[in-house]
Amino acid sequence: MKIRVGTKEDAPAIGRLIATTYRTYNLSHADPEEQDRLLGPFRNAFSDDPRHREAILGVVPSPMLYVAVDRDKIVGVLRGRKNVLASLFVGGAYHRRGVGRMLVERFEKDSRKLGVNWIRVAATLYAVPFYQSMGYKKTTGVRRCHSFEGTDLKQQPMKKRFTKR
Ligand SMILES: CC(C)(COP(=O)(O)OP(=O)(O)OC[C@H]1O[C@@H](n2cnc3c(N)ncnc32)[C@H](O)[C@@H]1OP(=O)(O)O)[C@@H](O)C(=O)NCCC(=O)NCCS
Repeated sequence: MKIRVGTKEDAPAIGRLIATTYRTYNLSHADPEEQDRLLGPFRNAFSDDPRHREAILGVVPSPMLYVAVDRDKIVGVLRGRKNVLASLFVGGAYHRRGVGRMLVERFEKDSRKLGVNWIRVAATLYAVPFYQSMGYKKTTGVRRCHSFEGTDLKQQPMKKRFTKR
């Protein structure tokens, strides 16, 4: 398993990973139409239509993008920017094998090099125990939020502060 910086060329594989993982672990409470709205462009991640591929390319790249790769296959992705962990997905077959931890540790290490001393994340409810195990703390109650055109999603705002080294 290797963590590396993600590139534009990874976007189709990242899109497929996000589509499957998001739908399976985070959207099962919603009906199929709302799931598609919450998925936004990712609902077409398995399409070869150039317009769909372009739409995925419009949402995947991020100032800080990391992928976990197992024998050339992308099995995890973290998208972030300064002070913000925007999204994190690990394929179901790879859960509880330390992949999420490795991605977050790499993001935190590179964030600290930029002088960042805190990171916030709007965690899915599914991921709250994971982030707690990584040292993130709840900052408010659960919030209802939107994702693309969908509105039926709950998130838990969380934050981690780094101690001075
Ligand atoms: C949340 C997620 C990224 C975690 O990835 P992962 O690779 O399975 O996590 P790790 O194996 O690195 O877990 C590290 C620790 O976090 C905790 N943890 C992880 N998943 C957990 C779960 N489902 N329930 C309870 N604790 C969990 C455990 O303490 C774990 O250590 P352990 O396995 O030694 O007990 C993954 O479950 C996922 O992709 N979920 C669906 C998408 C999602 O909700 N993403 C968050 C968006 S903000």
